[in-house]
Amino acid sequence: MSINDILAKIWLPQTPLQQLIVAVVVVTCSYFYYKFFVAPVRRLRKIGLPFPAPTALTGNIFDYGPTKQHIAQLEWQKKYGTRYATQFFKAPAVWIAEPELLKTIMVKDFSNFANRFSFNAALPYFNKTLLELKNQDWKRVRTILIPTFTASKLKLIVPLIKDTADILIDKLIKADEKGENIDLWKASGMFSMKVILGTAFGLEFENEEQEVKLTNAAGLFFRQDFGIRQTIFQLIFFASAKLFLFLEPRCGGGNFCSSVRHIVEITKAVIKERRNNLAHDRPCRKDVLQYMIEADGSNQLSDDEMISQAFVFLVAGYETTQNALTFACYSLATNPDIQRKLIDEIDSKFPISDSLDYNIVSEMPYLDMVIAETLRLYPPAITTNREVSQSMIIDGIHIPKDVILAIPIYSIHRDPKYWHDPEQFIPERFTPEAKASRNPYAYLPFGIGPRNCVGMRLALLELKVALVKTLQNIEFFANKETEVPLKLKSLSTLSPVNPLYLGIRKRF
Ligand code: HEM
Repeated sequence: MSINDILAKIWLPQTPLQQLIVAVVVVTCSYFYYKFFVAPVRRLRKIGLPFPAPTALTGNIFDYGPTKQHIAQLEWQKKYGTRYATQFFKAPAVWIAEPELLKTIMVKDFSNFANRFSFNAALPYFNKTLLELKNQDWKRVRTILIPTFTASKLKLIVPLIKDTADILIDKLIKADEKGENIDLWKASGMFSMKVILGTAFGLEFENEEQEVKLTNAAGLFFRQDFGIRQTIFQLIFFASAKLFLFLEPRCGGGNFCSSVRHIVEITKAVIKERRNNLAHDRPCRKDVLQYMIEADGSNQLSDDEMISQAFVFLVAGYETTQNALTFACYSLATNPDIQRKLIDEIDSKFPISDSLDYNIVSEMPYLDMVIAETLRLYPPAITTNREVSQSMIIDGIHIPKDVILAIPIYSIHRDPKYWHDPEQFIPERFTPEAKASRNPYAYLPFGIGPRNCVGMRLALLELKVALVKTLQNIEFFANKETEVPLKLKSLSTLSPVNPLYLGIRKRF
């Protein structure tokens, strides 16, 4: 038997070309194996913290399933404590769940942790958003945006939120009268989307057809059916924005790119019209877009920068607020005593149902407590992160430059060290006395420090107005369709797995 016969028998390449091809394949695979598995694990090991064994390419993101990131936080904390490392695709992440240390990271040593890790810097418009911008660029845009969320500016947005809340209530009551079950998550999404499009993009719907088209376009990335295809595209989005941009339009990922184009075109047209109105002294709507347009002198943003910020409001403000409102309604329905107490406060502050006003809404302690407890138990943003500019040692933890410093908001909010019976909905955790006795860094639904959520005041206002207006008209209760306990899923935000159906009782 010749050597070639033997090679043929054991499937080895025989001709020089075959051998070259095999050599190239072996070297390429080895290179990628080293780059995407061996090297990242080495980096992880060097950090010196305990870590779960990562998988090649995806790291630890699938450890508990792609939509169970909140469970992963609880399980990792149970296994490894409040400081551990994981791998996010090939990037090492250091997780810190100790409020004492978060103060150092998010406030005291802010200059070393001023930026967020970039997941989608390659996406047009998204790459210039406040979420992604770094250092001086971030500071400049943040300084311009802050005044758009002051109390005096938000007061002017209240009528828009009120009108949108009226539409929500109308929808709920009509569905109830027809004996239909309405998914609270979808209804809250409609509310949140209308407010954010109205306040951030300056868009008003002229008719129902336009509303459906726009809401669909804006909501495409946050699809309601969380199918496998959508999950894959979200993962590609986090893994490589460039790959996402290439694949999404070609492989039918959900028309994300065409929706972005659609919204950009509309927003550009609105900006043009507003500038024109301004030039001719015509009255303009008071919304965040208008405040950006009217920012003066060195505070001016270019049109593209404005569109970028409008986008970030959509990305950061739509689903988060939708989920917060959904969780609040669910918590009230399943805790009738708490709902009753809240209704009593609402009735005493607003004896006439249409007298809702910014100042009074700002002085409702029990409403504040109910919302705070909702955001503790169900924080819509379950995690935030910081980039590390310079390697640093904090309380003995070696934090190398360029790792993702991850803050597990969800598991901190359920840590029994800070929250007794953490699974229970107890608004009294937020009385002034209870708050004073707890480390403030154990509660961070909006993040903390100079890089916290810039839309926090708007989000809280939306939630307050929506809850007050709703409870002035109806009460929620858990019926046989209500899923108790609520099943949760998480990837970009925390949301219910299934439609949320609640019983509705008209109050008058
Ligand atoms: C209940 C609703 C909301 C929740 C729970 C939430 C939560 C968060 C969290 C946790 C962060 C990261 C903070 C940090 O890293 O310290 C954040 C950042 C941000 N949020 Fe929100 N958010 C909400 C609503 C909104 C709304 C309505 C808007 C816009 C109108 C918005 C705009 C932003 C922006 C622009 C950032 C980045 C800020 C920066 O890097 O300077 N958010 N949000």
